[in-house]
Amino acid sequence: MARVLVLGGAGYIGSHTSVELIGAGYEVVIVDNLSNSSLSGPEGVRKITGVDVPFVECDCADPQALGKVFERWKFDAAIHFAAYKSVPESVSEPLKYYRNNLDSLVTLLELARIQGVHGIVFSSSATVYGQPDILPATEQTPRLPALSSYGATKQIGEDILRDSTAAYPGLKGIALRYFNPIGAHPSALIGELPRGVPGNLVPFITQTAAGIRPELSIFGDDYPTPDGTALRDYIDIVDLARAHVAAVNRMLASKQKSDYEVFNIGTGRPVSVLELVNTFQRVNDVKVPFRIVARRPGDIAALWADASLAERELGWKVERSLDQSLSTSWAWQKSLAQQ
Ligand code: UFG
Repeated sequence: MARVLVLGGAGYIGSHTSVELIGAGYEVVIVDNLSNSSLSGPEGVRKITGVDVPFVECDCADPQALGKVFERWKFDAAIHFAAYKSVPESVSEPLKYYRNNLDSLVTLLELARIQGVHGIVFSSSATVYGQPDILPATEQTPRLPALSSYGATKQIGEDILRDSTAAYPGLKGIALRYFNPIGAHPSALIGELPRGVPGNLVPFITQTAAGIRPELSIFGDDYPTPDGTALRDYIDIVDLARAHVAAVNRMLASKQKSDYEVFNIGTGRPVSVLELVNTFQRVNDVKVPFRIVARRPGDIAALWADASLAERELGWKVERSLDQSLSTSWAWQKSLAQQ
């Protein structure tokens, strides 16, 4: 049985990916420093899968600590989720972002190379595209200069993986450019756990519906879009998790066309903020009070994916609808209230 190291596996995307990897027959080891997650991640993974998944609490940027993990287990592949992800925080604390997000990746690659790991999957982001002139964005759409240090760490992370896989024979890499992940596992045992006031739309909506926030602010209705609110591509977390399984399968089956590949992971369907709020209200039969306010600085008008390359090459496709994602998001929010 092939073994996969999931760095940052206690978090939102990492915990869902761990579940899907185990479901696909992989052995998983979760490593996380719990800086933006909690033990409820690995515990939820164990409950859902019935597997006693090993969890190691350690700083993924610390070569000694991560080295110990590599002494204990031999890995066939590794997935790097161990990164900070707040855009505004990255603007006020750039060094924190460069240090953590890049050091943890370099440390992983150094160890992976020495220990003969075959492939690395890197969590990249649609943010590398900025606001493209032509939509949907394909993998050939130019990367624009990053608007935040967070975005810069994703671009540099891709380059680090590209250069490393070019230089070190036997090491393969896949970068997955996520669009907007939403939803939760249908068991409601794992989901997104935002700290403080959520910056992302769906956690803010679920907290507003739950009465934790009085109202949602919709940032701008004067964008050049059909209803004036911004367009994004919201991808279900379980579908996104399964894209990682497909990427690991591809690397381990030596099906890659080159040492380093990039795939967009999105639905290909643009959804406006208003459409998302209205869909959430309809699907869950719950009210979300909202008010239109000024645009949020740094936001782009529209971004959605052409994910046909992932469909063709990874054998992956979107299986969950927006309705389903918004229903699991709400179930997860309600389960938090009962804990
Ligand atoms: N929005 C609101 N109100 C809120 C929160 C968000 O109207 O309270 C709007 C935003 O203005 C945007 C849309 O909802 O139009 C989606 O916002 P999110 O913050 O959920 O997602 P973004 O597309 O802004 O952020 C995503 C990723 C980041 C990435 C960023 C780059 O979550 O990781 O794109 O722009 F860096």
